[in-house]
Amino acid sequence: MRATVMKSRVRARANIALIKYWGKANPDLNTPAVGSISITLEGLWSETEVEFDLRFTSDTLVLDGDSRPEQLGRVSRCLDLLRERAGVKTHARVISDNNFPTGAGLASSASGFAALSAAAADALQLDLSPRELSIVARRGSGSAARSVFGGYVEMHAGGAADGRDSFAEPLLAADAWPLEVVIAITDRGEKAVGSRAGMERSASSSPYYSAWIATSDSDLRAGRDAILEHDFDALAEIAEHSCLKMHAVAMANRPPLVYWNPATLDCMQAVKALRATGLPVFFTVDAGPQLKAICEPSVRDAVVGALRELPGVADVIVSGLGPGVEIL
Ligand code: DP6
Repeated sequence: MRATVMKSRVRARANIALIKYWGKANPDLNTPAVGSISITLEGLWSETEVEFDLRFTSDTLVLDGDSRPEQLGRVSRCLDLLRERAGVKTHARVISDNNFPTGAGLASSASGFAALSAAAADALQLDLSPRELSIVARRGSGSAARSVFGGYVEMHAGGAADGRDSFAEPLLAADAWPLEVVIAITDRGEKAVGSRAGMERSASSSPYYSAWIATSDSDLRAGRDAILEHDFDALAEIAEHSCLKMHAVAMANRPPLVYWNPATLDCMQAVKALRATGLPVFFTVDAGPQLKAICEPSVRDAVVGALRELPGVADVIVSGLGPGVEIL
C-alpha cells in the first residue's frame, strides 16, 4: 500500500538552446514544430519539492516564496499525467525556488518543469526512464524536456500523433567539451510576452514562419555535427544564425515581437568584436533581453570583462555545463 504522504525534492538546471525551438506541431500535446539543441547549465537551477497528501483539497504552487495560482493550470496538467500513471487522484503541494531571476528569458520554465516532473514521478514511486520523464516534462514546457539531461542535448520534434517520439536525449557529455556561458542581464523584470504566446503568434502571422520550419533540419544537422566534432567556429556560425532567424520570425509577427533592448544589441556587438580579434565566443538570445555568450573557458574572463563594462548590463552570471535532473 502507498504511504499517505509521498514527497520528493529535485534539482533541475536551466538550459540554453543553441539551435532554437520556436513553434508547436500540436499545442495540446505541446509537441514542437522543430527539433532543437541545447546546453544544460551547471549554475542556474530550480529546486522543487512535490508532496502528495490525501488531506490536500487542491494542488497548490509556491514559486520563489509567492503563491502563483495563474501558473497552476500548467502545473496540474503535468501532475495529472503522472497521477494517471500511478492510478491516484491525490493533490499535491509544489514548492519551487529558482537561484536566478524567474521569467526573464533565463529558461525558468525549463528547469522548473523538469524538476516538477522528476519530483512528482519520484514521489509517486513511478519508475520512469529518462526518455519518459522528458516526454512528461515536455507537456509542461517544451524546453523542459531538454533539462532532464546534462551537457549537450538534442530534442526531437517527432511526428507520432500521440507525441511519443517527441523527447530529448543526450548528444555529448558536459565534460567532453566543457564550454562556459556568460549571461549578461540587461533587464531584471519579467518579460511582457512569453515564448508560448510569441510562438503562437509567429505561426499565425509571421510570413517567415514557413521558412523557419523548412530550414530547421539543416540547422539541426549543422549544430549536431559541430558539437560532435568540437568545431567551435562552425557551432558559433550556426547558433548565431538560428538565434537571429528565430528573432527575425518573431519581429515579423503581427503585432511585432521584439525581445531585445538596446543593451542586448550592445552585447551582440561586443561579442562580435571579441570574435573578430580571434576569441572563441558567440552569442545567443532567447525570449527575453538577456544575452548569453558561449565561450571556451580560456577566454571567459575576457568575455566577462567586456560585457560587464557595457552601461546597460546590470549583472553578469557565469556558468559551466552541468548535469541533468538530480533527486536530492
Ligand atoms: C526561445 O519551452 O518556454 O527559449 O513549450 O510553450 O513552454 P513552451 O515554450 P518554451 O520555449 C522556449 C523558447 C526559446 C528557445 C528554446 O529554448 O529552444
